[in-house]
Amino acid sequence: MKVIIRDNAHEASLWVAHRIAAAIKAKAAVSDKPFVLGLCTGSTPIETYAELARMVAAGELSFRNVISFNMDEYVGLPVEHPESYHSFMFRNLFDKIDEPRENIHILNGLAEDLEAECEEYEKAIVRAGGFDLFFGGIGEDGHIAFNEPFSSLSSRTRVVTLTDDTIRVNSRFFDNDPNLVPKQALSVGVATVLSAAEVIVLATGPKKARAIQQSVEGPMTHMITVSALQNHPDGIIVVDDAAAGELKVNSYNYFKAVEAAENR
Ligand code: PGA
Repeated sequence: MKVIIRDNAHEASLWVAHRIAAAIKAKAAVSDKPFVLGLCTGSTPIETYAELARMVAAGELSFRNVISFNMDEYVGLPVEHPESYHSFMFRNLFDKIDEPRENIHILNGLAEDLEAECEEYEKAIVRAGGFDLFFGGIGEDGHIAFNEPFSSLSSRTRVVTLTDDTIRVNSRFFDNDPNLVPKQALSVGVATVLSAAEVIVLATGPKKARAIQQSVEGPMTHMITVSALQNHPDGIIVVDDAAAGELKVNSYNYFKAVEAAENR
């Protein structure tokens, strides 16, 4: 696992945007096959999406040959609800880039048969060719997508029940009322994320520092599902200084030194 540390959230977000853009361009240079991209929601990716949108507007990047799959969606929330992940993604990214509508995949939390919806999602990912890159965030409890503590590290897309912690944290988007937060979601599994050729996780701010410390320095455990990234050949955690705040000085210095050596 690599850890990239930037001084602030802005720099960390730009690093991720430029890495995603470089990966899309690198594949386009050698192949006509679409680039398959996993995407996340939350406060964290907003600046990364703004930078990707800026690059598209400036003619520096195109999503015309990108197929995307979002990692999760609430169960039972109307698509047009401002806090649905459908709304979030169109507001922050899809309305501003040139990705064809038919290439955009977001789980349908209103499907009559939720299990069939999840099964079909996994099949669609395979039909698309599998993920080239998965961009994720993490929760304060160390979840990746909605894989809450105790989720199997070999889980696939399925219906999940949100923990009280996540409901409390996400209530900030629902008038600070936990009762308004959906209790279930559809989420890709840990194994779905890890099936990507490359996984990039962005975490910023002091509230993520404990989860980052546990996932980077602790053992791989279903208590901190993002720790499964330790078992991925190309996993990158990108943090700002605040989210790196609980790392040991030795770890912090090591990751800084590795990056400096690679850029030499
Ligand atoms: P956040 O959410 O970016 O809003 O902190 C991330 C997550 O819960 O995965």
